[in-house]
Amino acid sequence: MSIFSFLSKNRNSEPDLGYLHTDIHSHLIPGIDDGIQSISEGLEILREMETLGYKKVITSPHTMWGTYDNTPETILGGLAQMKEAMAQEGINIALEAATEYYLDENFMEKVHSDEQLLAFGENHVLVETGFINEPPELKEASFHLTMKGYKMVYAHPERYLYLLEKPSLIEELLDRDIIFQLNAVSLTGCYSKPVQKLAEKLIDMKAIRLVGTDCHNMVHINLLKEATTTKYWKKLLDLELLNNQL
Ligand SMILES: [Fe+2]
Repeated sequence: MSIFSFLSKNRNSEPDLGYLHTDIHSHLIPGIDDGIQSISEGLEILREMETLGYKKVITSPHTMWGTYDNTPETILGGLAQMKEAMAQEGINIALEAATEYYLDENFMEKVHSDEQLLAFGENHVLVETGFINEPPELKEASFHLTMKGYKMVYAHPERYLYLLEKPSLIEELLDRDIIFQLNAVSLTGCYSKPVQKLAEKLIDMKAIRLVGTDCHNMVHINLLKEATTTKYWKKLLDLELLNNQL
């Protein structure tokens, strides 16, 4: 598929994101985190994602100690419910689930104790951090995940203030083969102007290897459509992205 074909509109006059094929970051299991709260809400979003051209959605509810104490069981149980509802509605998207791990001592304990992590693709593990301070475990996490055969996917780096304040850390993390995952909606400025600017800088650096929606609700779907009209959207799709290999 040429790069120009997905910049055009599809037959429903919606932006066509079919080139991306797979979304790897969203919160589409009902009632287990701050994402969707009902099956019907999830169905509405997934129907939109199908219209936008996505073929596969690997949804990634939070696993955050003390806030969203999810386990593979809570996530995969909810996944089964969503898949059944999608089949009844005739929504033609392959739905899978992983999780977005919050990097803290509890996550490190899982890594060190050899607990099986809920990965996606080729042993990819999605990891987010706090927004303000560089977590002391960041480099240690990437080292141990690599040693155990996982590939660390760094969720929405453009949202981390500590990367803005310490740009040298970006190169340091890239040198460790950490996979940077951008939230497409960051290009709209919806989080903040500095987040948008860091997103653009990471695209200019060719640091981004995965694009995610981080969709929690329909607001994000509308922002996603808006992101496709920004001047960095084509630059983003020109990068060597891994989405359509997953
Ligand atoms: Fe997320």
